[in-house]
Amino acid sequence: MSPSPTANVRSPDNDAIAAAGALIREGRLVAFPTETVYGLGGDATSDRAVAAIFEAKGRPRFNPLIVHFTETAAVAREVEMDDRARRLAEAFWPGPLSLVLRRKAGCRISLLASAGLETVAVRLPANDIARALIGAAGRPLAAPSANRFGGISPTTAAHVAEALDGIPAMILDGGPSAVGIESTVVDLSGAEAALLRPGAVTREQIEAVIGALSEPADEPDGGPQRSPGRLLRHYAPRHPLRIDAAVPRPGEALLAFGPDVPEGATLTRNLSPSGDLVEAAANLFSLLHELDARAGDGIAVMPVPETGLGAAINDRLRRAAEPLPDAEATD
Ligand code: TXA
Ligand code: MG
Repeated sequence: MSPSPTANVRSPDNDAIAAAGALIREGRLVAFPTETVYGLGGDATSDRAVAAIFEAKGRPRFNPLIVHFTETAAVAREVEMDDRARRLAEAFWPGPLSLVLRRKAGCRISLLASAGLETVAVRLPANDIARALIGAAGRPLAAPSANRFGGISPTTAAHVAEALDGIPAMILDGGPSAVGIESTVVDLSGAEAALLRPGAVTREQIEAVIGALSEPADEPDGGPQRSPGRLLRHYAPRHPLRIDAAVPRPGEALLAFGPDVPEGATLTRNLSPSGDLVEAAANLFSLLHELDARAGDGIAVMPVPETGLGAAINDRLRRAAEPLPDAEATD
């Protein structure tokens, strides 16, 4: 399998790393090797770059992303690191362990990367090319595995080129991934540490450092929920949300979409005046938070087309409009 001619695959020399870092700062996406699998990276502090990642993945909903750093001190500036987190970081970072931690006040990580949760999954990759890229970008990288939704995680640059043909502005070729399976994901946001995804660091290795882990939180889609208390808790607005609204009712705030905005709302914010779904996804969580803080009787939301990122936007809006137990499929 040879990379597609449209894919900008580069050997990771200093020039390529510097160019890739500049692309990230411009909000573009770069696929890069980690010790586990290849990631599709974007500026984790930019809602717009994170929206582009979701668009590239073709996920039907916004699953939260892992954010990659080079230093534990930089992680601790964005999220709460308790004693368990510090001990696991000491034992396994840099390496294939992702920790789900609570966002600190003033956290600069995109709300979209958190998919509306009050937590962020963070890790320090061990791969030198990944570390160099994060350094060159000068900011943490949000990076899911560089496959399309439902596809197999890529362990070579050629896999990425084939799966995401033409999407990353650059693919850094670091050869085959050393580990080849994804990082282990451990949720430390609550009192009980939970194994959310088994991965390259084993349960036994983690339990040797912080003691017993509870079971994975999520059953496969549609499966029984063993422990509802451990479901991913998504941000739910305090005000009622009315979706597919043509016009606001008296007292309602309006979350608009597109150029033709009805009048009469107590407060109006627009997901994308030009009707651009990537812009709408980027703005979704921050505008929901803003309207929820300032809404009167409720929030009316104009229809968003179901195409492209619109499917994930509508999935999120529907669940915010009708809060239901919130099981997440992972990929
Ligand atoms: O090895 C890896 O972890 C690779 C490389 C590129 O680092 N990345 C990766 O990312 O596998 P992704 O997006 O394919 O998987 C992220 C996993 C998903 O299962 C997601 O649900 C979970 O981490 N996750 C991320 N943030 C979370 C959060 N705030 N709360 C709970 N689960 C989270
Ligand atoms: Mg994945």
